[in-house]
Amino acid sequence: MKILVTGGAGFIGSAVVRRLVSIEKCAAVNLDALTYAGRLDSLASIAGAPGYAFEHADIRDAAAVAGIFARHQPDAVMHLAAESHVDRSIDRPGDFVTTNLVGTYTMLEAALRYRDALPEGRRDGFRFLHVSTDEVYGDLGEGPPANEGAAYRPSSPYAATKAGADHLARAWHRTYGLPVIVTNCCNNYGPYQFPEKLIPTMILAGLNGEPMPIYGEGRQVRDWLHVDDHAAALGAILRGGRPGETYNITGEAERRNIDVVEAICATLDELLPDAPHRPHSQLIRFVDDRPGHDFRYALDGGKLARDLRWRAPVGFEEGLRETVRWYVDNRDWWEPIRRGGHAGQRQGTAR
Ligand SMILES: NC(=O)c1ccc[n+]([C@@H]2O[C@H](COP(=O)([O-])OP(=O)(O)OC[C@H]3O[C@@H](n4cnc5c(N)ncnc54)[C@H](O)[C@@H]3O)[C@@H](O)[C@H]2O)c1
Repeated sequence: MKILVTGGAGFIGSAVVRRLVSIEKCAAVNLDALTYAGRLDSLASIAGAPGYAFEHADIRDAAAVAGIFARHQPDAVMHLAAESHVDRSIDRPGDFVTTNLVGTYTMLEAALRYRDALPEGRRDGFRFLHVSTDEVYGDLGEGPPANEGAAYRPSSPYAATKAGADHLARAWHRTYGLPVIVTNCCNNYGPYQFPEKLIPTMILAGLNGEPMPIYGEGRQVRDWLHVDDHAAALGAILRGGRPGETYNITGEAERRNIDVVEAICATLDELLPDAPHRPHSQLIRFVDDRPGHDFRYALDGGKLARDLRWRAPVGFEEGLRETVRWYVDNRDWWEPIRRGGHAGQRQGTAR
């Protein structure tokens, strides 16, 4: 099976490509524009594998996308390419509108034309897996976890463009018969995450003895899933999910931000007993909250458990420890990013 993965140089996309090539023994074509978030060095372990190919292209470029379908003849698409950082979406929403909405439209159109021209046997098996987020359901407050029928109430420009992209993907299924499956997943963590998201930002600040900035009072709640478990769930959904359906993917690990950061500090204390800034929790600083900050996201993953027997393995604390250790051991990956101007500066304080 050959799969076209968009955004395969990003945090989750690279985990998906590594898994497809090295564990699931599929061929994978990575279509990525290599924005600031795209890092080919995240794919070094499989870069020379016979089943792997890279295409440097932008999902908004219809001609380039059509050419990639024609050249590689994939059996499925896993669409992850996106602008993904909420704070950036507050400062520069235009990039989010064009990539997340127009780019998704371009991918759906190209996939539809390609799929309609396939011979019958291959046409029936073709799938378009659209990867999305729990943020489309908006702020849950104290309410129950969102199931797949919950209303969309996106708050940030990022969430609004992902919500719009989800609707486009479903419309291409309902109106044109493209075999689309949509997934909505909770917050991911793990190796190779760009140091602007909460967990790597805090780890690198702690490692460098810099202030660890927590928005508001840190009481916001997020549900966490290890990126490799997300990649495994996406593989299971691509194989067994039904076209036209939506599947929530939950880590069943709701944690307050402050508790996540305290756990990172405790792990740094343990791994680096000689660090001059021990205890690392003294670096925590409470800063102005993010504009429009959602208080809580949580997902009901019952459908995925019932229909495809997939549940996340238990183990957020262990996964977080391994992630801290990975950043301690892999300076070669993140030091160039910080030297390149991404050294934890505050973003998204409203224009
Ligand atoms: N990170 C999370 O916690 C999370 C949770 C649920 C869903 N998601 C979704 O998963 C997907 C991947 O998220 P991520 O955290 O890996 O993002 P990321 O920012 O790490 O990676 C995005 C990738 O897309 C590429 N890209 C961006 N614009 C492009 C364009 N116009 N054309 C081609 N490539 C482009 C970038 O170069 C990068 O490699 C996104 O669709 C995101 O909405 C993320």
